[in-house]
Amino acid sequence: MGNERRWRWWRFFIVMGVAVAGFLFPSSSASQQEQLMEPQPVVSRIAFGSCAHQDAPQPIWNSIINFDPHVFIWLGDNIYGDIRRPFKLLGRERTVGPWKNVPRFVPSSKQEMMLKYNKGKTIPGYSRLRQRTKVIGVWDDHDYGLNDAGKEFTEKVTNQKLLLDFLEEPLDSPRRKQHGVYASYMFGPIGKQIKVILLDTRYHRDPLFSDGTILGTAQWTWLERELKGPESAVTIIGSSIQVISNLSANTRPLFYLESWGRFPEERDLLFKLIADSKRKGVFFISGDVHFGEISRYDCAIDYPLFDITSSGLTQAVERVVPGPLQFLVRFLAWLTPSTMRVMKSKCRYKSCTFGQPNFGVVEIDWGATPVIIKMEVRDTNGLAVLGVNVPLSLLRPGNREYLSSNNTGEYQRHCLLEVQLGWIVRYRLAILFYSTLTLLLLALLGIAYVATLACRTCVRKCKRD
Ligand SMILES: *[C@@H]1O[C@H](CO)[C@@H](O)[C@H](O)[C@H]1NC(C)=O
Repeated sequence: MGNERRWRWWRFFIVMGVAVAGFLFPSSSASQQEQLMEPQPVVSRIAFGSCAHQDAPQPIWNSIINFDPHVFIWLGDNIYGDIRRPFKLLGRERTVGPWKNVPRFVPSSKQEMMLKYNKGKTIPGYSRLRQRTKVIGVWDDHDYGLNDAGKEFTEKVTNQKLLLDFLEEPLDSPRRKQHGVYASYMFGPIGKQIKVILLDTRYHRDPLFSDGTILGTAQWTWLERELKGPESAVTIIGSSIQVISNLSANTRPLFYLESWGRFPEERDLLFKLIADSKRKGVFFISGDVHFGEISRYDCAIDYPLFDITSSGLTQAVERVVPGPLQFLVRFLAWLTPSTMRVMKSKCRYKSCTFGQPNFGVVEIDWGATPVIIKMEVRDTNGLAVLGVNVPLSLLRPGNREYLSSNNTGEYQRHCLLEVQLGWIVRYRLAILFYSTLTLLLLALLGIAYVATLACRTCVRKCKRD
């Protein structure tokens, strides 16, 4: 009896001692085990953004911080690393027009790139966000190092290190050894898991107009493994360039935007991989284009695929024209035909695009039945300018629920590709542009003709006098 009691006391002291020692000198393996056993916190708010010029004021971070995201995702052009030469039609160094003789964009030196990354990283608003939120991301062309660049760009190895430093990727991370910055993450507890897959659309990309590859063989193999890997309730695929919207089909030959649509075979492969993986809850987020847009494609796989585009945090199309002319940009955006854009959403403007600084938001209401995913684009003040609420149950293979909502008249099916529109619709932007130009030229010619006539009569009159 006495012995037993003493032993109990001994046991008590030993256990206490071990506990105190463990508290004072935690061994790494123990803390790792604890982390494994500890339930992962629920993630319900994700913010994302792209196109942030380090020299521009970035007040938008305040609204992003107010949203209080659990994760923030960079989708590229996180800084503007390359150098843009001035717009010059004439002169010795011409940067635009068919007669241009020097490139508009040139890469910076490594030192300049580091300075620019440092400037972007230490912007006060962003620094505050970094301290409280997990930040992950990939690059697009300008932080990769050169406008519209792909696999041919020679500085990519150096710049990969710079991006990973900017993102504070651990020094022993495998991401520092692979070719390209693609990565995947799993957040949240079982049942509420969110997988984030970030694609590198630069490092392995073949030249534009080549119809080659975007991801390259190694990244395709990796992506297939990721999609077929462990389940998650939601899977967000981040791509710097737009996946669903293929606006180039309707803006050419005036201008082209980069997108997966420009590599139709690669895009089909992406859809096929998602369909074959039978993965539920997949949607895309993207950046690059300097405006916000939500698009939806119902005929890629057997449930609707959404793509929420937010661009940019500072760089936005309406910013390039003076205030009173901004309505023109909105008019042109409205005029550009689109078959994938979600128009039945809460849009601030008729075009359902947003050309002022913005960030993207994914907010998941895990408590609702069915679970609702709120996808939004928000302005500098944090107000929603585009948005859709998607029941998670809609994003499920074999789900035909969305067809029945057709009856309410609320729903437009997004199946027609942009290139399948009639040519007069597809080219209406170009037609408008060239006819306006022709009219202007004709008017100028007319004025010149009248002026010469007037001069001649005047000269004749003078002679006679
Ligand atoms: C996207 O538009 C381009 C024209 O700019 C066209 O060549 C391409 O086939 C389109 N892609 C798809 C998937 O429709």
